[in-house]
Amino acid sequence: MKALIAVLPGDGIGPEVVEQGTRLLRAVAERFGHSFELVEAPMGGVAIDRTGTPLPPETLALCQRSDAVLLGAVGGPKWDPPAKVRPEQGLLALRKALGLYANLRPVAPFPALHEASSLKPEVLRGVELLVVRELTGGIYFGEKRRDEHQAFDACVYTEEEVVRVVRAAASLARARRKRLTSVDKANVLETSRLWRAVTERVIREEFPDIELKHLLVDACAMHLIRRPADFDVIVTENMFGDILTDEAAMLSGSIGMLPSASLGANRRGLYEPIHGSAPEIAGRGVANPYGTLLSVAMLLRHSLGLEQEARAVEVAVASSIEAGALTADLVPSGVRPLGTGDIGTAVLARLG
Ligand code: NAI
Ligand code: MG
Repeated sequence: MKALIAVLPGDGIGPEVVEQGTRLLRAVAERFGHSFELVEAPMGGVAIDRTGTPLPPETLALCQRSDAVLLGAVGGPKWDPPAKVRPEQGLLALRKALGLYANLRPVAPFPALHEASSLKPEVLRGVELLVVRELTGGIYFGEKRRDEHQAFDACVYTEEEVVRVVRAAASLARARRKRLTSVDKANVLETSRLWRAVTERVIREEFPDIELKHLLVDACAMHLIRRPADFDVIVTENMFGDILTDEAAMLSGSIGMLPSASLGANRRGLYEPIHGSAPEIAGRGVANPYGTLLSVAMLLRHSLGLEQEARAVEVAVASSIEAGALTADLVPSGVRPLGTGDIGTAVLARLG
């Protein structure tokens, strides 16, 4: 097949991990006889430096005509306040402009990495959960105001915003263990009470085969590290999902392991590791690229419909990890870690 893929390396370790992602995409195209056109564009801090804005119109236009977008990470101390424009604004604007309301974050710790996690191996056994985070609503997109001595962030959700993300999560649950946990703070927040009522209705009317449970976000934070294997699909609002997935990343040994897919009404999606730009290790070739490589697998599956190719990437990643191809964030002290590029090479060598 032919596909146009926008590549936005971004800042910090973004370009280093994305380079391994593009090597992998080229290798997949070659082995499986596809033609992927990869077009790079500036986004985030690099775009601010070059053009004054984190999401230049040319970058957005490229993304809008692409079949999929592969992104690294954005941000860094250089653009922290008092700088007026922030790289993260570009990412929020891009997600919004592409209508990417459902952010899929699978967490399936590799057995070979159980030792790298801060949790006990017996807690990690059998963990295979998927967090579906609402991505274009809630407090990150509400009205903001700052006066001299007070600040204000509004959290707003409409019924329609809840309906579509719950539908997406329930459809995914249907192809898995058919268990959905909806996470909210309905004992305190009005948006959460709406969330809960709408979720109840959507599942009752459209997904009677799905078992729905509600959990308050603070309790969920606890259960995620106490009994993570019990979860199948978790659906939650924007900020709760942001926080819970950093926590869930610890199940897999490192935040560098987790991929994500952001999807909307059509097939065009945005794929990125869940970590940030890790400025303190940027430019040293030591960043873990597995989250990006697994994001490439999600891109192949969700935007291009290439299930066989996606599996081949996942198998190659699993086999590299089994073989001990690990970066510094994953190795026990005393073991020599591999660099970012070595991991890319190890995965390419195992691509069926
Ligand atoms: P971070 O995810 O960049 O780093 C957290 C910790 O994990 C650091 O110790 C870092 O060295 C380590 N780490 C992250 N990714 C890694 C990888 N692939 N391999 C090895 N170690 C890795 O989060 P932090 O430090 O809170 O934020 C740094 C910058 O990134 C900030 O400017 C923040 O706004 C931005 N950020 C951007 C995101 C995005 O582009 N989607 C998401 C989160 C943060
Ligand atoms: Mg986050």
